[in-house]
Amino acid sequence: MQIIENYSLKHLNTFGIDARAKYFVELNSDEDIIDFVKAKGFAGHKTLILNGGSNTLFTKDFDGLVIKINNPGYELSDENNNHIFLKIKAGENWDAFVQKTIEQGYSGLENLSMIPGNAGAAPIQNIGAYGVEQKDLFHSLEAINRETGKVESFDKESCRFGYRSSIFKTTLKEKYIILAVNYRLNKKPVFNIGYGAIKDELKKMGSAEEISTKAIAQAVRNIRSSKLPDPEKIGNAGSFFKNPVIAKEKYMKLKNAFPDISAYPESGGKYKIAAGWMIDHLGWKGARRGDAGVCATQALVLVNYGNAAGHEIVALATEIQQSVKKTFGICLEPEVNIV
Ligand code: EPU
Repeated sequence: MQIIENYSLKHLNTFGIDARAKYFVELNSDEDIIDFVKAKGFAGHKTLILNGGSNTLFTKDFDGLVIKINNPGYELSDENNNHIFLKIKAGENWDAFVQKTIEQGYSGLENLSMIPGNAGAAPIQNIGAYGVEQKDLFHSLEAINRETGKVESFDKESCRFGYRSSIFKTTLKEKYIILAVNYRLNKKPVFNIGYGAIKDELKKMGSAEEISTKAIAQAVRNIRSSKLPDPEKIGNAGSFFKNPVIAKEKYMKLKNAFPDISAYPESGGKYKIAAGWMIDHLGWKGARRGDAGVCATQALVLVNYGNAAGHEIVALATEIQQSVKKTFGICLEPEVNIV
């Protein structure tokens, strides 16, 4: 476990922002993480825990310690007639894990194919796509309390999962480091094909008659590849903003003024509005300010075409927020963690 000074984070964040950490450490096993927390060597310093770096936008150098979580692997922890329980370590790549579960014949995570990042971050922001959220397959997680050094277990209820949210983003923010997550997958497939784009893609693929877990995963991969830029090629962190949830009365007014508006009913009579639709409607798709841009195929995704600084991406995001506020009266909230 070696502390490195003045370390470049460019390859550790999918936006590809060239920020530097004053101090940097990589923790490669559970033991490393536990020892590090117990030693409390950096108490009093600002710290930032980095997993896959797929949801972080650096706007300046980090004047403290960046802790990269790198404990890899997954293992079977239990099974019964209908389910298998797999424990995945926080530092394992999410999509590699998802594809392995599919190859091994388990279903549940196929709609969450191709989401960039590592497993430890999946419960923190309750990742979701195409009608499924990780909470639907979640069983429990293990995390170390940074204050006491004790490893604790959290069940589903205690994680307080919500739309792109959990207790680790709210009241317990920065208080724990997640070591591993347990998922309960199905031995007999349960398909989620309610999301329109999946049905359409399955038809295109000729798989609509014989749906399988593998076909759904492939459909999701096709849809994502056609819309979302590959962070290996163009820096981005997926959706930059959350889809806002608004009251029915406000939605009815908007629907009246903008009959094409894209929205989905939510619990409690509320509506979730597609932020991408609003941004697209205002003509932002493909807009560019230097190397900071709005993706040309998905307006909710902001991109770094090469050498954009984090504050330039934030400036573009602010322009978009102001324009959405002016036309729709809605404040867009970033989904990405701005540091
Ligand atoms: N839309 C447009 N123009 C655009 C983008 C979207 O008109 O430029 C419309 C679409 O036509 C569609 C609606 O908006 O009617 C929703 O679009 P899409 O299905 O692409 O999904 P999204 O709401 O923009 C959310 C998640 C994504 C997830 C997709 C698919 C959030 C913040 N984003 O995006 O998650 O992959 O649904 O389920 O909830 C992420 O969180 O980083 C992410 C990529």
